[in-house]
Amino acid sequence: MTNFPTNFLWGGAIAANQAEGAFAEGGKGPSILDVMAVGTKTQPRKRYPLTEKDVYFPSHDAIDFYHTYKSDIQLFRKMGLKSLRTSINWTRIYPTGEEEEPNEAGLKFYDDLFDELLKNGITPVVTLQHSDTPLFLADKYGGWKNRILVDYFIKFATTVFKRYKDKVHYWITINEINAINFVTWFGAANDSLSLQEKEQASYHLLLASAKAVNVGKKINSDFMIGGMVTDCYSYPYTCKPEDVLLSIEDKHLNIFFADVMARGYYPSYKLKELSRNKITLAKHDSDEVTFKTGKIDFLGFSYYSLHVSSTQKDEILQGNLLQNIVGKTNPYLKKSEWGWQIDPLGLRISLNDFYDRYQIPLFIVENGLGAEDDTTNIKNINDVYRIEYLQQHIKAVSDAINIDGVEVIGYLAWGIIDIISGTTGQMSKRYGLIYVDKDNEGHGTGQRYIKRSFNWYKKVIASNGEDLTLNLKEASKA
Ligand code: BG6
Repeated sequence: MTNFPTNFLWGGAIAANQAEGAFAEGGKGPSILDVMAVGTKTQPRKRYPLTEKDVYFPSHDAIDFYHTYKSDIQLFRKMGLKSLRTSINWTRIYPTGEEEEPNEAGLKFYDDLFDELLKNGITPVVTLQHSDTPLFLADKYGGWKNRILVDYFIKFATTVFKRYKDKVHYWITINEINAINFVTWFGAANDSLSLQEKEQASYHLLLASAKAVNVGKKINSDFMIGGMVTDCYSYPYTCKPEDVLLSIEDKHLNIFFADVMARGYYPSYKLKELSRNKITLAKHDSDEVTFKTGKIDFLGFSYYSLHVSSTQKDEILQGNLLQNIVGKTNPYLKKSEWGWQIDPLGLRISLNDFYDRYQIPLFIVENGLGAEDDTTNIKNINDVYRIEYLQQHIKAVSDAINIDGVEVIGYLAWGIIDIISGTTGQMSKRYGLIYVDKDNEGHGTGQRYIKRSFNWYKKVIASNGEDLTLNLKEASKA
């Protein structure tokens, strides 16, 4: 038996840089993602000069959502989505980040996009920054390690908050703000960061998030502004006390970001860690108040898999690009084709852990399975594995709500339509319930086809999560 609140935000999520393409249209400037070439299953994306002819930059075309959003939204409506999370590409609004005035063509694009969503009964959930820092700012200032990024980000945030104040109610400040722990290009375009720089960049990201909350609330006090992290929980590998203690320390590495955003101050364990590492953060006196007043209304998080902490260092897994970088493989779980472990119960564990800690509404803003689809019959992709994945995770959310009493405001399936992968840039790592005919080098018609999971999710939403069964008759209509 499942049960969800009546106004539960069932939906899907994408990000501008992974969907829009049109990377140089409408006055858009390049972002740090636009110089990242496609990677492979085992190789993350790498930076190349924009002029390089022999590499494919997947964000340049992505799935062309910039031009296809109207027909894509029709498909979302048919699926019954109540909300769509996307992001505003910063460099469509401020092409280098330094302009005095915003780019009207960029603002107009998002006006049209949000209008189209609203017209179709779909609530936009909008991320201000989804990893796409302007390339110009990254190269000139070294990215977020420089405090000036906070000012430019707030200029951008103020512009879009004002422009869309009557269209967008749910905002997310910075996507996976703790991902700076795993992917260095999140904080700077190419170079690796020293520990001091990483901590300073983290401080600036958190400050930017808090300032954005303060600014947004002044523009529209009804805004619901959330922070966002990637899952933070770490299982102890064994019940050996040393492993348990390490799991707490590993969790701190990630959850510290959520702690600052939800509680409004740097936690004592972090201050001790900084002082042990002889790191002094450059701060302004007013920052303390900014953190205190800039607390988030809800915590959004992406959920793929949890971490495992073990003191047996020699067996530590060095990671499958982004997830599980800290710790070992969990022997009780299966892995996706990309090596990401599949752990539905972990989602319930995470929801409990976050809610115990903050007692604020939680929002699952990304969850899904990246898998290669069999395209023998492109018009009838039978992605039962994806349905099973979503089914088990949604059941875990239901249990967290109904058995554990956790307050969850929505569930957004990541990559509701196939988009390019964030970590590898591949198209073949598909999360979509809608297939997009494109390959890893950008070849293909770009045509959309619904997968079997499309009809299944439609039924889930229509029944407000009551019916998670795989009804074969219904699903075979795909
Ligand atoms: C999250 C990001 O880390 O994971 C998304 O917010 C990303 O941008 C998603 O796409 C899944 O990662 P990937 O590499 O499988 O696309």
